[in-house]
Amino acid sequence: MTAAAPVVFLCGPRAGGNSDAAGRAFAAGLTRAGHTPRIIALRDHDVAPCRGCGACAGPGHRCVLDRPDDAAAELFAALDAAPVAAFASPIYFYHVPALFKALIDRAQRRYEVRLAQGAGDGPDRLAYPLLVAGRPRGERLFEGALITLKYFLWPFGFLPGPATLLRGLDAPGDLAGDAEALAAVEAAGEAAGEAAGIFLGDLGGPAD
Ligand SMILES: Cc1cc2nc3c(=O)[nH]c(=O)nc-3n(C[C@H](O)[C@H](O)[C@H](O)COP(=O)(O)O)c2cc1C
Repeated sequence: MTAAAPVVFLCGPRAGGNSDAAGRAFAAGLTRAGHTPRIIALRDHDVAPCRGCGACAGPGHRCVLDRPDDAAAELFAALDAAPVAAFASPIYFYHVPALFKALIDRAQRRYEVRLAQGAGDGPDRLAYPLLVAGRPRGERLFEGALITLKYFLWPFGFLPGPATLLRGLDAPGDLAGDAEALAAVEAAGEAAGEAAGIFLGDLGGPAD
């Protein structure tokens, strides 16, 4: 059986920025641990924002925005299939950028499905937050993003893994120019890859 691929989502609008560098370093670590990660940049996919119409709470849990020109279902399918995931995002106004929040809000359909089906066996996979902020200080800098990620992940059967929180990185090349920080992110990716190991594949993961 071919093991399912980990997925690393690049969640910032700025191509080649610090969150991209964090996501790519984490992916390099996953590769070192023997995985073949898939990297998906959200900015390359169109996701319409939730309208709060409530259709997904009704019979069939349908989302009126799930159409061929909308990528939310395809992005969620990549997450569903992954034995381990990571979300690399900049902090915008103490939270995540709008394009990432649009995807998160579209998970409302999945939240309704999981509520209706019960908790099942509970989360058995880890998704790693990789968050980058321009400010060098601030106790609560990452709080909003982290709590949102926790509840976003629940309907997909993921728990948040240890977060990589990077501060004081503002200009696009700041992280790329910090070999020590990059190495730490890569090491976190390698540890995540080793923790995911071969066990989920052997037991039959959600991709089966
Ligand atoms: C719209 C916007 C809002 C931001 N809000 C914050 C913030 O609340 N706190 C902070 O520390 N940095 C903030 N920043 C700075 C970014 O987090 C920082 O530049 C980061 O490195 C961007 O990641 P990127 O290079 O992947 O785009 C903001 C940047 C933008 C463009």
